[in-house]
Amino acid sequence: MAEHRDDEGAAATERLLDDAAGRAARYLAGLDGRAVLPAPAALERLEALGGPVPDEGADPADIIALLDDVGAPATVASAGPRYFGFVTGGALPAALAANWLAGAWDQNAFSVTGSPLAAILEARALAWVLEALGFSADCGGALVTGATMANFTGLAAARHAVLEAAGWDVEARGLAGAPPVSVVAGAEAHASLLKALALLGLGRETVVRVPADGQGRMRAEALPTLSGPAILCLQAGNVNTGAFDPATEVIAAARAAGAWVHVDGAFGLWAAAAPERAHLTAGFEGADSWALDAHKWLNVPYDCGIALVRRPEALAAAMSMDAAYFMKDGQRDPFDFTPEASRRMRGIEVWAALKSLGRKGLAALVERNCRQAARFAGGLGKAGFEILNEVVLNQVLVSFGAPEVTQRVIAGLQAEGTCWCGGTVWQGRPAMRISVSSWATRDRDVERSLEAMIRVARAEGA
Ligand SMILES: Cc1ncc(COP(=O)(O)O)c(C=O)c1O
Repeated sequence: MAEHRDDEGAAATERLLDDAAGRAARYLAGLDGRAVLPAPAALERLEALGGPVPDEGADPADIIALLDDVGAPATVASAGPRYFGFVTGGALPAALAANWLAGAWDQNAFSVTGSPLAAILEARALAWVLEALGFSADCGGALVTGATMANFTGLAAARHAVLEAAGWDVEARGLAGAPPVSVVAGAEAHASLLKALALLGLGRETVVRVPADGQGRMRAEALPTLSGPAILCLQAGNVNTGAFDPATEVIAAARAAGAWVHVDGAFGLWAAAAPERAHLTAGFEGADSWALDAHKWLNVPYDCGIALVRRPEALAAAMSMDAAYFMKDGQRDPFDFTPEASRRMRGIEVWAALKSLGRKGLAALVERNCRQAARFAGGLGKAGFEILNEVVLNQVLVSFGAPEVTQRVIAGLQAEGTCWCGGTVWQGRPAMRISVSSWATRDRDVERSLEAMIRVARAEGA
């Protein structure tokens, strides 16, 4: 300890952090000029990170140099401007720098006692998210690892509430012997929602699936009658098409039946913060819980998901725990609302992202990405390729013709390196997915990527 704290140690730490920061900044500056996928040779060089646990420790400066020299070329340039895979945000500079500070501070964000700063930033970040989305300030919430855990967290509150209303304390007694809970979700619900239901003991195969239309929207007229302890799961933003379930119609029916409504809005719910897209999220504010991701459209570094729950006490009933050594003092402890206890300080990045964007910047980011998605669809359509979805948000599905041609174009584009798009199968048809979710994507990146897509498609015979 003494050795670490002396002047020489402090100077060495400062040099190390300066070196890491310089390497990180050079990495980011180089993203525009490199292929999005790492070269096979770069992956082979990862061998240098192998071998047995070393007997002796190495110099930290050498460790950082090795990681940067060998690791950085092996990264996928998903922080860069032309990564359109999955639904992937970049990291806003303020959020990234805040993440570095948080790393240095190494706070345990489980409680006020563990870190008053972390608890305050988390509460502030959640309040700002609610405000930006136009939700009631009385809602509760939790910062978790991603939308999968946000779905889990919201559905844990749901499970508590519907069973409590049926006279059953599920946290105390478990599910064996509990009144059955019926769960209803759309046919195109995200896989993570089903996983969350499975983790909660609600089962993935017992879910009643409501048929979807050609965009993946639940058909309101096909909603079954809800009764007893029931949870209706809606989606705000289909991962393939970007489509939204018809919230206004189905939430009214669920409310009348006393069901809990949970919304998986991993990326789509951010549209509520953008006046030109907010019509898409109309009605969703009437739900009881919502899951969204900050590492998607809010563009904070991985990982950060957000669970919001209308009645904070339902979330607390599902999540809180106690032990004498926790030293609770009556203030809002994050761990009373989260699945985890010890955890990193995610609030700092959410706070910094919203502070750096402001309401206007967040709206502009969402709107710009949607406009860029429409430009992809327009350009590809004009080139003669079929767009499979109504491009209402930031997602584009394109077919280049026969299934094998589409597969070849996706592989060819990934190998060519200008940009990266993944593949999917949309209602039986193979397609390339374009998801525009990054603050770093400029209009010229869209034009450059569009040119590459059309060139590769032609070369593949599309
Ligand atoms: C609609 C939806 N829900 C949930 C998820 C899962 O999010 P995460 O990977 O952050 O857990 C995604 C990821 O793309 C998604 O699009």
